[in-house]
Amino acid sequence: MALQFTVSESTGRVGDAERAKILANPGFGNYFTDHMVTATWSDADGWHDAAVTPYGPIALDPAAAVLHYAQEIFEGMKAYRHADGTVWTFRPEANAARFARSAHRLALPVLPEDDFVQSLREIVAIDKAWVPEAADGAETSLYLRPFMFASEAFLGVRPAKKVTYCVIASPAGAYFSGGVKPVSLWISTDFARAGEGGTGAAKCGGNYASSLAGQLEGIDHDCDQAVFLDSSTHTYIEELGGMNLFIVYRDGRIVTPELTGSILEGVTRSSILELAKELGLSPEERRIPIQEWKDGAESGEIAEVFACGTAAVVTPVGELRWDGGSCDHRRDGHTDEIALKIRSTLLDIQYGRAEDARGWMTQLA
Ligand code: COI
Repeated sequence: MALQFTVSESTGRVGDAERAKILANPGFGNYFTDHMVTATWSDADGWHDAAVTPYGPIALDPAAAVLHYAQEIFEGMKAYRHADGTVWTFRPEANAARFARSAHRLALPVLPEDDFVQSLREIVAIDKAWVPEAADGAETSLYLRPFMFASEAFLGVRPAKKVTYCVIASPAGAYFSGGVKPVSLWISTDFARAGEGGTGAAKCGGNYASSLAGQLEGIDHDCDQAVFLDSSTHTYIEELGGMNLFIVYRDGRIVTPELTGSILEGVTRSSILELAKELGLSPEERRIPIQEWKDGAESGEIAEVFACGTAAVVTPVGELRWDGGSCDHRRDGHTDEIALKIRSTLLDIQYGRAEDARGWMTQLA
């Protein structure tokens, strides 16, 4: 049976003037709305106690399994305000399906798709005032973060018998403070993000924790992000940790690493693969040796490289650096034309400025 959400409204909502100030320059992940959604699962009762409550700290027993064994998964989505004031989200069924796949991998219970989508409707309905207007092509939205974790207080290593599901929401501008400026990447060779048979294809906190040391190494080498290679041969490109990667060739091929089991199947990634053909490109999913990137940058065969994800949408990549070297595919007059075209095609669908021919959008409020 579908979850029924009880609603207890906050008596301490952020005032209109303060909220307007936040929405004018939200950055990414800095501010949170007035409410949150929670639900509980137990092996005895299944999903129950679904509620919309004022946003605030969660009381956790120090023995809660998530704090010790990282049994946790999450999703990232956005709510977009259209010109007529309605609020929509992009392919929520794809996120619900991935949340279910992540749940299987982390031995967590599956939240049915209808409950997942309803939880988004609940938070957006009560905090609709927090969905920014996207004036003049700005990419402001309300970032939605559903997550689930093992809340049972128990130190034995086994799947928890009590689990908590939450949704929080955060007004968001561009993920990178520099906007759509190209980011530089560091090839992480000392650290892999995920390995064969591991959790790389699941959206779980552990993968992101595992990417941080590589990212720090990149920052130490004046790069914005790290690119991770496969853990067994350190040869093939995987992903950035929080984003997938595409290489665009001058002959129109647009190539992304195939899903080997250790790469996250991004919703933006699969949408770009679908859109590529109608933009006159030839999409390919295959293993890409990192050497191919270096050679293609050198020879000029590579026209563009970009990263993609819900948070960052499409972000051009510039220089690639590694221990002892660097390369850059950009030449005089470089424009990142394809990346910016894909980016605006996606944003136009998401903000209701272009026809949604594939039925990707779902109205939330
Ligand atoms: C997203 O793009 O939504 C992500 O999950 C990446 C990052 C913010 C964790």
